Amino acid sequence: EIKACIFDLDGVVVDTAKYHYLAWKRLAQELGFEFTEQHNERLKGVSRMRSLEILLEVGGLSFPLDEMERMAAKKNAWYVEYIERMTPDEILPGAKELLEELRANGIKVSLGSASKNSPLILERIGLKNHFDAVIDGNSVTVAKPAPDIFLVAAKSLGVNPEFCVVFEDAEAGIEAAINAGMRTVGIGNPQILNRADVVVPNLKGFTYSKLIELFLKK
Ligand code: G6P
Ligand code: MG
Repeated sequence: EIKACIFDLDGVVVDTAKYHYLAWKRLAQELGFEFTEQHNERLKGVSRMRSLEILLEVGGLSFPLDEMERMAAKKNAWYVEYIERMTPDEILPGAKELLEELRANGIKVSLGSASKNSPLILERIGLKNHFDAVIDGNSVTVAKPAPDIFLVAAKSLGVNPEFCVVFEDAEAGIEAAINAGMRTVGIGNPQILNRADVVVPNLKGFTYSKLIELFLKK
């Protein structure tokens, strides 16, 4: 039985990876090295500070913590400039329809994102009122693949983890959901997301009945 669905934000509901990339690339440029799109893959689903650590590793640099905090704040200010200009057109295909259909069928819906910027993004894309709970990097700081974000989401919906399905585009996110004892739908590359129960390319055409059918058999 499925009682709740938990959605990651970046890469599932919106494509903010491109904005994260532009901001990290700008920081790398300032520090004097190139940061490629391939490097950026490693940052998906990873917290802001961990992302910075990976970036500095790519550049072969290291800094004291206070310097790193200053750099992360700088990157975030640039990132916020991009997401402030987001519009509802940037919702990924099928996401809004699925959220609405799930709730119409009595399924509870939560956000489960590592991003501290999720309130601003939800506001800009007009999905603030589409969730029964919003659990993100502001309420939970223990990063995926730890299960904390998803467990807190389930708790605030009042649903046991076994009745939850998590929608995730990042490997670390699928791990986190499995660690939480939840079912998983991977969004993207089946090779990368090979631990997910099912993998779909995106949410286009993903319906309530498809969800029920998929997890009836499991
Ligand atoms: C999501 C994204 C990551 C990002 C993290 C923190 O998990 O996939 O790329 O680093 O959120 O986002 P924030 O907006 O708090 O810097
Ligand atoms: Mg993601």
